[in-house]
Amino acid sequence: MIVLGIESSCDETGVGLVSEGVLLGDALSSSMDAHARFGGVVPEVAARAHLEAIVPVLHQALDNAKLQLSDVDAVAVTAGPGLSTAVQVGLASAKALAFALGKPLYGVHHLAGHAAVDVLEHGPLPSRCVALVVSGGHTSLLLLGDLGRDPIVHLGDTIDDAAGEAFDKVARVLSLGYPGGPSIDKAARDGDPRAIQFPRALSRPSDPAYGFSFSGVKTAVARWVEARVDAGGEVPVADVAASFQEAVADVLTRKAVAACREHGVDTLLVVGGVAANTRVRALAEERCAAAGIELRVPPIRLCTDNGAMIAAVGDLLVRAGAPASGLDLGADPSAPLTGALLAGPWR
Ligand code: KG4
Ligand code: ZN
Repeated sequence: MIVLGIESSCDETGVGLVSEGVLLGDALSSSMDAHARFGGVVPEVAARAHLEAIVPVLHQALDNAKLQLSDVDAVAVTAGPGLSTAVQVGLASAKALAFALGKPLYGVHHLAGHAAVDVLEHGPLPSRCVALVVSGGHTSLLLLGDLGRDPIVHLGDTIDDAAGEAFDKVARVLSLGYPGGPSIDKAARDGDPRAIQFPRALSRPSDPAYGFSFSGVKTAVARWVEARVDAGGEVPVADVAASFQEAVADVLTRKAVAACREHGVDTLLVVGGVAANTRVRALAEERCAAAGIELRVPPIRLCTDNGAMIAAVGDLLVRAGAPASGLDLGADPSAPLTGALLAGPWR
């Protein structure tokens, strides 16, 4: 079975082809540069870019995989969460393909795709694992069973900003480029992570053990920079970036390892755009090694949004015998993460 996956929930148009956990080929087009001058993704600009990119990206992915459309056995697509107009483009394209090819359509949850993509690099997931999902819009600690079959259990979520969102906002405060994550990561290389002690929210024993909050650290950075500017001093951008990155990586990895310990799980999966962060990866590695936990993090290219991840989760659903979605499937911009498959209106 060859599964075609389509991703269009934010500013990346991605198409991937996966069969039995193996990536056959993929292609990606990003409209990131078009959003940079606005300091964030503009939904209409993203949707227009998806429209222009979807057919060329589809052909490129097929070429890379040395396949033809007629080889495709199933079509998976991000049905949510994401920017409504952006999701609609991928969804309409996927429906058209499924209809024209006479193949089943699977509407999937974008975040399940982030988790599933690791299968392409490191093989099948264990029967149980803890997943730390850290993206631009979400930050969650999850307990995963069989991703294609089982409901997803939330151990904790962010109560305000997502980790990636905090990176993007702090980058703006430091006048670094958009998207913020990669530019803070780069700036932090020359900085001292111990220069400034930024707050680690929700870290007291009375706080929710697996809840996150990144609004406070973002505000603390803004206040610190403001105070420095008011005092006529220069802002040590590298030190601020490194100290902020350290605060975020510290909280994320400490809570993730604690969740593994408490739930008797010996594998931690770290996924989503922020899993591309150098310090998050290094600290997770260090702490997992110390705790005897196996760490799985996808290669950087597959951490940020792409089509391979949607094909990967579609492939898990197909192999699990999940029911196909109807062609009346609608986009669900704020879909809660309860499972890999997004139920259609018939349920
Ligand atoms: O998963 P993703 O590509 O899209 C969403 O589903 O949101 O994540 C995008 C987020 C952005 O906030 C971006 O700044 C962040 O991931 N990001 C990073 C890095 N690369 C991307 N954050 C920290 N360090 C990075 N190297
Ligand atoms: Zn994403």
